[in-house]
Amino acid sequence: MSRSETVERARVTVFSSKIEELLRDRRGAKVFRLDADTVGVADPDLIDNLLGSRRAHEFERPTFKPLQGRSIDRAEAADVLHAVSRDVRAALSGPAPDAVDLSGIWPRAGHAYLRDLLFGPDPLRFRVLTDRRLERTPALARAAIRTSAVLPGKRDPDASMSQLAALTVTAAEDHGDRRYAMGLYRRVAAPVCLGVSALVANALWLGSPFGADASNRHIVLESLRLLPPSWNILRVASPEFPALDSRIGPNDDVLLFPLLTHRDPDLWDDPDEFRPERWNDLDADNHSAYFPFGHANERCRGRHMIVPLAEHLLDRIRSEHLAVSPHQTIAKVPLAGLLGVSRVRVSRTRVT
Ligand code: HEM
Repeated sequence: MSRSETVERARVTVFSSKIEELLRDRRGAKVFRLDADTVGVADPDLIDNLLGSRRAHEFERPTFKPLQGRSIDRAEAADVLHAVSRDVRAALSGPAPDAVDLSGIWPRAGHAYLRDLLFGPDPLRFRVLTDRRLERTPALARAAIRTSAVLPGKRDPDASMSQLAALTVTAAEDHGDRRYAMGLYRRVAAPVCLGVSALVANALWLGSPFGADASNRHIVLESLRLLPPSWNILRVASPEFPALDSRIGPNDDVLLFPLLTHRDPDLWDDPDEFRPERWNDLDADNHSAYFPFGHANERCRGRHMIVPLAEHLLDRIRSEHLAVSPHQTIAKVPLAGLLGVSRVRVSRTRVT
C-alpha cells in the first residue's frame, strides 16, 4: 500500500450533505439539470465553450464585483492588485518570521500567520477586516467596514504599513470614500488570508505527512484538484449558451463544477487519490479538465500570490515537522464560500 493510500484510508472527509449528494449522484455526469432554471455542467469541453463565449458580468466576479453599489473599474482593480502583490513579494523575499507556531487548528492557524505576515503593521481598524468571523454573514462584514471608516485616521501612510493599506489611506477623502476604500481593502486582503489558509489546510488533510520527494508545487496543485476552494462557477442565462448545448434552455443559468470535473473517473486516473506526483507529467496551465482558478479567458488574477504563499507555508510546515494529528480521523467540509476542511488539528511529529 502506498503512503497516500495509507493516509486516505485512515482519514474520512465528511462533506456537507449537498456536496456529498453531488459527488455521489453526479460524478461522471457531464451535463445535468439541477432545478427548473439551472443546468449543472462538468464536461470540460462544454465548460471551455461556455466560459469562452462571453466575459463574466461584473456581478459574477468573485473579487471585483460592485462594491457598495459602485462598479470597480479596471484601473482601480489593477491598483489594489499591484499593491497587494507588492506586499506578498516583500513578505516572501524578506527573512521568514521566526518563533511562529504553526501548530494548532487549521485553517485558523494559517490565517493568523498570513494576516501577521502581510498586514501585521497595519492599524487595527484595517486588520479586523480580514477577520475570519466576518465571513459568517455579509451584515457583520458591512458593519465592520462602516465602523472602520468612521474615524478619518492618518491621511499620510506610514512606512511600516502594507502597500494595500497605504493605498487605502490616501484614497479616502470623506466618510463615503473611506467606507468604499476600506471595503476594497477587505475585498483583497481577506481572500488572500482565507484562500491560502484554506488551500493549505486542505493539503494537510489530504496528504500530510508528505512524502520527502513530493514538491510543494505539486502538493498545492493536487490539493486544488481534489478540494478546489472555488468549487463552482456561476454564469447567469445568456443567449450564447443554448447555442452551445441544446440541453441548456434560454432561461437557464449554468453552474460549472470544477469539483466534479477534477474527480471525473473518465478524465483522471485514481481520481479520489491524493497523488502529487501525477503533476510530474501534467501541465496545470494547459490541462483541459483542471481549472481551479477559472478559465484562461479570465483566470484568477490572484493566483500568482496564492500559489507561492501556499508553498511558503508548506515549506515552514514541513521543515518544522508538523502534520495532521494522528488522533484526528474525521474532518468536515461545510457548505461555505470556499470549499475546505473546517478544523484540522496540526501537531509536531516525532523526529527520528
Ligand atoms: C485560493 C484562493 C483563490 C481561488 C481558488 C480563486 C479562484 C478563482 C476563480 C475560479 C476565478 C474565476 C471566477 C469566474 O470566472 O467566475 C477567479 C477570478 C479572479 N480572482 Fe481568484 N481565487 C482565489 C483568490 C484570489 C485572490 C486572493 C485574489 C486577489 C487578491 C483573486 C483575484 C481574482 C480576480 C481579480 C479574478 C477575476 C474576476 C474578478 O475580477 O473578480 N483571487 N479566482
